[in-house]
Amino acid sequence: MTDWFETVAEAQRRAKKRLPKSVYSALVAGSEQGITASDNTAAFGELGFAPHVAGLSDARNLSTTLMGQSLSFPVMISPTGVQAVHPDGEVAVARAAAARGIPMGLSLFASKPIEEVVAANPQTFFQLHWVGSRELLAHMLDRARAAGAVGLILTMDWSFSEGRDWGSPVIPERLDARAMLRLAPEVLARPGWLAQWARSGTFPDLTAPNLAEPGKSAPTFFAAYREWMSTPLPSWDDIAWLRAQWDGPFMLKGVSRVDDGLRAVDAGVTAISVSNHGGNNLDGSPASIRTLPAIAEAVGDQVEITLDGGIRRGSDVAKALALGARAVLIGRAYLWGLAANGQAGVENVLDILRGGLDSAVLGLGRASVHELSPSDVVVPPGFARANQLPGLGYPPPIGFRDTEPRS
Ligand SMILES: Cc1cc2nc3c(=O)[nH]c(=O)nc-3n(C[C@H](O)[C@H](O)[C@H](O)COP(=O)(O)O)c2cc1C
Repeated sequence: MTDWFETVAEAQRRAKKRLPKSVYSALVAGSEQGITASDNTAAFGELGFAPHVAGLSDARNLSTTLMGQSLSFPVMISPTGVQAVHPDGEVAVARAAAARGIPMGLSLFASKPIEEVVAANPQTFFQLHWVGSRELLAHMLDRARAAGAVGLILTMDWSFSEGRDWGSPVIPERLDARAMLRLAPEVLARPGWLAQWARSGTFPDLTAPNLAEPGKSAPTFFAAYREWMSTPLPSWDDIAWLRAQWDGPFMLKGVSRVDDGLRAVDAGVTAISVSNHGGNNLDGSPASIRTLPAIAEAVGDQVEITLDGGIRRGSDVAKALALGARAVLIGRAYLWGLAANGQAGVENVLDILRGGLDSAVLGLGRASVHELSPSDVVVPPGFARANQLPGLGYPPPIGFRDTEPRS
């Protein structure tokens, strides 16, 4: 079997074979019944194309810009805590993204320090949650600035839901002898993964190095998560405060409602990601692609709009662009690639997305990704959701911004 794979679905199959069960199921993720996680991918399947047959363009321009960065094609790495997937973790992902000319989003819960990741990809955006205190957040911003991060991503869509109907992975607080013994059966069943870690001379240590407080060592992943859970929840004023602490590009990730998109504009962000955290947040929220058209319509070009959730092929990227996104972020797709074949596997996934996007742009008779428009896709009746302005259809009428009180 060659290491190369032809689709993201094949990368996922290989990841399943290679990773211990708990690690694999941590990447599958999803919450509760998994309705949103499934809808994120299923919704792309409901959208059709309207291709042309002649007069197609020999040369297609896939490049774009996002938050001041050049992208060789309109895809960016979405931040994920990729603890334990691969010894090189986020550094391998960052290198792959740099090799293919796209930016890297680095999770606050990542396994590698921001300094190493920026060295691997100078187009790195650092992702924060609202965690700890304003002092801790300001310290993390200072560190990101000193490391050379080109922008910030603030992820806000998380409601600490617990329990999955298909079972949650067993993730130990620390990989000590007891934990290793408990995990031994599933780890020993995956010798390739084990050998990879053995060769690297390390084992997943499940810490969050980017969450270290000044002068202290990095907390464990779970200690960091507990601190996040106990942090008082932020208001829109807090978001505006954080935005004012950073004088570069700033994305608010997790928007799934029209009114929140408009509040993000008011808070002064540079970009939003229309997202439901890959279906890991409030289960039952619609696929992010369903909520994109109304948000794009309302927000217009006041800020740059991206989408993440369910991107598995280049044609999905084309659909998201046609419905109003400037670029997309990908999560699981690159995680499967990383698990299947390290940095080369992530590059393989990016090549699949790029090739599929180019093919869609060709078939649609466009010469550039900037020409994609709603007329390129067939949207079935009832597809879109104009969250969440009761009684208002899509597109929302002018002046609807004032229909809900601002907090
Ligand atoms: C295993 C896993 C871990 C994630 N960790 C984070 C995170 O630390 N920060 C964050 O902003 N989003 C996180 N996300 C959400 C992703 O950034 C992204 O929104 C989502 O994966 C997109 O959906 P997709 O996986 O279908 O592409 C995570 C997603 C997964 C699957």
